[in-house]
Amino acid sequence: MVGRLWHLVMKRMQGSEIRTRRLRLRELTQADARRIAEIGADWDIASMTSRMPYPYSEAAADQWINGIHDKEVVRGIALDGQLIGVTGYLPDEDGQSAEIGYWLGKSYWGQGYATEAAAALIAYCFRRERFSHVTCGHYIDNPASERVIAKLGFTPIGRNRCWCEARNAEVDALRYELKRPQTAWLRFQGPSRAA
Ligand SMILES: CC(C)(COP(=O)(O)OP(=O)(O)OC[C@H]1O[C@@H](n2cnc3c(N)ncnc32)[C@H](O)[C@@H]1OP(=O)(O)O)[C@@H](O)C(=O)NCCC(=O)NCCS
Repeated sequence: MVGRLWHLVMKRMQGSEIRTRRLRLRELTQADARRIAEIGADWDIASMTSRMPYPYSEAAADQWINGIHDKEVVRGIALDGQLIGVTGYLPDEDGQSAEIGYWLGKSYWGQGYATEAAAALIAYCFRRERFSHVTCGHYIDNPASERVIAKLGFTPIGRNRCWCEARNAEVDALRYELKRPQTAWLRFQGPSRAA
């Protein structure tokens, strides 16, 4: 399934915007703060992410957008022109790999959107950024994200304790990695790095 999805994604990548069959991954602007707060102000979302505070407000979303680190790549997940979630990656210090993350507004759960968006982002990481591998993790009490990660083909690499802003505590987490596939189309198609 993943191979077929990636093939479709490859054909749809354009500039910094990534398109999938149903979604558009686009840059965020300050104007998105209200919508991000509207769909993201939910304990079931914040408690599964490391940095989202709870309660969550438009001011907090605005501050977060404003403070996105230069090296961090964050994309809003849009469905039919409406923002339904957020995904992104942060390159590691050595520049060889990146950690990905994602969340969706609750009313959009269970329709394959997170898997579709993350698969597209990972394909971008490998093809455009040329990372050798991507990593991710989930708290041990997050079976939905565990399933997304399994569907994407990640391999478990261990566990650690990871800070959760909403819970104001460290939480046990499982860690995973996915290596860049060494297929012919990945090696020979397109430019090696995004402008
Ligand atoms: C995790 C999250 C992004 C998943 O989004 P989504 O669009 O529903 O994900 P998908 O539909 O692509 O896949 C979800 C899978 O998890 C499964 N799932 C959902 N809840 C589950 C549960 N309680 N136990 C086991 N599996 C579960 C679904 O059945 C589906 O698997 P399937 O396709 O085999 O049926 C979403 O739940 C979310 O935003 N959660 C809060 C934030 C978060 O956890 N972010 C990730 C941090 S690591």
